[in-house]
Parts: sequence; structure tokens; C-alpha cells
Amino acid sequence: MILVTGGAGYIGSHIVRQLCLKNEKVLVVDNLSKGHKKAVDTRAKLIVGDFGDENLLLEIFKKYDIKAVIHMAAQSLVGESMSQPEKYFEENISKTLSLLKVMLKANVKKMVFSSTAAVYGEPEKWPITEDFPQKPTNVYGYSKLVIEQCLEWYRQIHGFNYVSLRYFNAAGADPSGDIGEDHNPETHLIPLIFKVILGEQEELTVFGTDYPTPDGTCIRDYIHVNDLAEAHILALNKLNKDESGVYNLGNQKGFSVKEIIKVAEEVTGVKVKVRYGQRRPGDPAVLVASSEKIQKELNFTPKFGDIKTIVQTAWEWHKNNPRGYDR
Ligand code: UFG
Repeated sequence: MILVTGGAGYIGSHIVRQLCLKNEKVLVVDNLSKGHKKAVDTRAKLIVGDFGDENLLLEIFKKYDIKAVIHMAAQSLVGESMSQPEKYFEENISKTLSLLKVMLKANVKKMVFSSTAAVYGEPEKWPITEDFPQKPTNVYGYSKLVIEQCLEWYRQIHGFNYVSLRYFNAAGADPSGDIGEDHNPETHLIPLIFKVILGEQEELTVFGTDYPTPDGTCIRDYIHVNDLAEAHILALNKLNKDESGVYNLGNQKGFSVKEIIKVAEEVTGVKVKVRYGQRRPGDPAVLVASSEKIQKELNFTPKFGDIKTIVQTAWEWHKNNPRGYDR
């Protein structure tokens, strides 16, 4: 059985679905503070609880035959991490250390860890390879880097195996239309564009037009959430060979905020009302991954690499679920 913490969240629910499709037995632990019960595949078992609750975890590891943990549960808002760092230290660092403590006690020494491009801070060139300096410019990125480093010490000292996946910008939705992105509050670019298109929000504010990029707006590397999910399955295969690794997970292609708006307009046929605003603190100008390592070592091949497909699948979800899971 695979334990997925945060399996009711946006990315977690897509991973759980892919695992279930591959006939894996899946146990989800999620406190539903951000996640949605309806997002969890009915074939998986959901335990509503906190992954940092050591007693709950001890019980779970005693009762179920857990082979590996995919650790997704986390606080992940860059802006919030800069106003409430203690929340990120507690939720992302302390609680993960508790989870690791229980895993060691239960002799379960395999983890796929949800990390982020934010560990690189403001890189000087692109595409970003895994050996680039890790100098996070926000507490969120720092909290993920700390756990990556702890995992490496656990590997050396306790024979623990881990695969850390540094996600670039997750986007899109499962083509079934059953699950998709539903955050409250929503802060991500693509869902916010659709809120404007669907009349749920008056206009989209573009954060900064004076970045050193061709059109002055930030460039990001968007990766479809199902491709991300597939990478977790490849990561589990690596753990099964008692191997560890750290990998970027992106599409090696960058799109500016203005370009993403244009793609959304093409996909929907609706013009987006835009306001040009100030930069958002903590936003690096360009984040584009090199994914060569994961392609070469884990045979990762994105199926939804095209940006129009990514935006189209997101649109299908938002169009049919304008209020997310509370339909
Ligand atoms: N943006 C706008 N207006 C908005 C929202 C976003 O212009 O209303 C811009 C942002 O400034 C950024 C781009 O759109 O340039 C993408 O922003 P998102 O908030 O969608 O995503 P981020 O790149 O800020 O962050 C995401 C994850 C983080 C992760 C990071 C790694 O949310 O957890 O990718 O690349 F750390």
C-alpha cells in the first residue's frame, strides 16, 4: 500500500488517481484544510487527519502494510510564507520530521518528496539543472530545501531512500473532468484567468511588466498535473530499486504571463480584462527547468507537454466546475 499525505489536494488527487488506475492500493491522509473529499478517487482509502499527528501515524503504520510514502501535504503559498514564516517551519519542517520519525520507527524507508523550483531562488541562467545553487528567496522554498537536506542525511545514516521532485508550475486537469484545481483563496495564474473569463472576478492583475524578459512579464515553465503524477510513479519504481535522487519536473519551455493570457484567450475565444500592476514580492523573473535528468534516468516523457493542451484541460475543468468541488 502507498500512503499519500495531502492526497485530497490538487496535485495529490491526480497522483492518487494515477496510482489507482495502475491498481496500486492507496491510503490518503489529509486533514481537508485545503483538500477536498470529493477529489479523492473512490478506490483509495481516505483517513481525515493530520500527517503531523504522530499517534495517528503510528496507528496507521501498525495497521496497514505501507511500502512507501508520497509526501504531498504542505503549505505552499510563497507570499504567505514571507508574512507567516513560523507556519511554514511548523507545517512543512516540524511535521515532516515527525512523519520521518514514525517512518523510521516503522522501518518504512522510502519517500517521494514534493519539492519545488522555489529552492533555486533567483537563478542567473536557464534552463535550471539540479546542480544549480540552492538559494531560496522565500521561506516556502527554504522549508522544502531543509527537508531535502534532512532526507539526504537520513539516506547516508539510516539507509533511507528518497526521490525529491522539484516541481515547476503545475497546471491543467485530468481529462476525465472529475478532478481539477480548486484552491481557496486562488492565487495561481491560470485558474485566475478563468475566473475572469467566467465572470467570477472582474479583471486579472498582471504582477509586473518591467521584468528583464522580452515582454516584461515573468516567465514560468508549466507542466501538466497528470505528467507530474506519472513522474511520481516513476519515482516509486526508483525507490523499489533502493535508489535515491533529486529531479526537476518541468517542460523545459518558458511562457510569459502575457503569453499564457493569449493562450487562454485562444482556447476560450474570450478576451481577458487585464490590469497591469506592481510586481508581486518574491517572484523570480524566469523559472525554466532542464528536465534532462529525469528524462534520462527515469524515462520520463510528458504526454501533455503542449501549453495549449495544458490550458485546454484546465479550461474544461473550470468551465464545468466554476465553483470547484462545491458545485
Ligand atoms: N501572476 C500574475 N497575476 C496573478 C497571479 C499570478 O501576474 O493574479 C503571475 C505571477 O507573478 C507569476 C506567474 O503569474 O509570474 C505564475 O504565478 P503562479 O502564482 O501561478 O505560480 P508561481 O510561479 O508563483 O508559483 C508556483 C507554485 C509555487 C512554486 C512555484 C515554482 O505555486 O508553489 O510555482 O515555480 F514554488
